[in-house]
Amino acid sequence: MARIELRDVAHSYNGGKDYALKPLNMVWEDGRTYALLGPSGCGKTTMLNIISGLLKPSEGRLLFDGVDVTDSKAEGRNIAQVFQFPVIYSTMTVAQNLAFPLVCRGYPVNEIKQRVDSVAELLGLSELMQYPARRLTADQKQLVSMGRGLVREDVSAILLDEPLTVIDPQMKFELRRKLKQINREFGITMVFVTHDQTEAMTFAEEVVVMKDGEIMQRGAPQDLFERPGNTFVGYFIGSPPMNFLSAEVAEGKLSCPNTKFSVPADNLGGKGEIQIGFRPEFVELVDPEKANFATARIEKVDNLGVETIVTLTLPGNLTVRAKTTTRFHQDAGDVVGLSVSDDRIQLYSNGQRIGQANEMA
Ligand SMILES: Nc1ncnc2c1ncn2[C@@H]1O[C@H](COP(=O)(O)OP(=O)(O)OP(=O)(O)O)[C@@H](O)[C@H]1O
Ligand SMILES: [Mg+2]
Repeated sequence: MARIELRDVAHSYNGGKDYALKPLNMVWEDGRTYALLGPSGCGKTTMLNIISGLLKPSEGRLLFDGVDVTDSKAEGRNIAQVFQFPVIYSTMTVAQNLAFPLVCRGYPVNEIKQRVDSVAELLGLSELMQYPARRLTADQKQLVSMGRGLVREDVSAILLDEPLTVIDPQMKFELRRKLKQINREFGITMVFVTHDQTEAMTFAEEVVVMKDGEIMQRGAPQDLFERPGNTFVGYFIGSPPMNFLSAEVAEGKLSCPNTKFSVPADNLGGKGEIQIGFRPEFVELVDPEKANFATARIEKVDNLGVETIVTLTLPGNLTVRAKTTTRFHQDAGDVVGLSVSDDRIQLYSNGQRIGQANEMA
């Protein structure tokens, strides 16, 4: 097990012209489940390869439990890495594939058998042990890849780089559940790379959101959802994304044109461009006369079965989306009221969170 620390780590693939990873400090605590989430090209794989030792960072130091491992090779780091596409030895059986890392390290035969059998059982591969690996389906192959990472009792961390891309949707849920179970049973740190927010939010205790080689925010899924630290996270997490409206400071109040929103704002002068942000989930659709936030015209109603997404146009041609799980009987063209509780309204200045509407009083 290990606590993994990145100290002033940065990486450039072209001698400093562009940074795939900008200088950063961060710690991956021992035994936790993490998801690394961000758009394509933001540096997720670069980060993982630096931790596993496939890549040496062009700047900074990497520490495992306080020991500097920056110059040590991948083999010496006890990190298991699972890639997007399964890596298996096609001429071997499933059992031989799973045993391989232990055979290479000279484990005793009976211990190999015991560990291989328990990992196979955990991953539901017991029935396939004598099967040639080349005849497996893509998701079975990926299970074998994962299994090879898990048989080693000395692994400090398992890094998974979009491992579920080749797995069919029903298996994905099952596999995430198994990974969490493995984390609980063995306390192995897990870093799971994905650009699928649902996957990240359901898997990890802590989600790290990246953009352009920088960490935008890290925190519990609920924190990222309820209090995005910046407008990027507000847009990137959640579906539909967070609603953002421009706000103005005047006469000691922060208000939003064309809405009833207004809170005291004695200390917000000179803070640059201010926006308010609120999740579609926190918009309540009510009678127009009961609304605390605004009245709006319904533009579109998308019934998705369990939930309904209502697109609304506010005066001034502002668009806001609401998401509701209760039955919704109104239709495009109808006028409705919007209520949003102040403790669900976040405030942003130049894209960075500066507080919450109910804290302004
Ligand atoms: N071997 C390489 N040589 C040069 N540039 C690279 C190399 N690998 C990655 N890059 C660049 O570094 C940046 C970060 O890439 P990286 O693969 O880490 O992103 P990613 O977040 O894993 O993306 P994806 O979601 O597409 O896998 C990108 O701009 C990419 O083009
Ligand atoms: Mg990648």
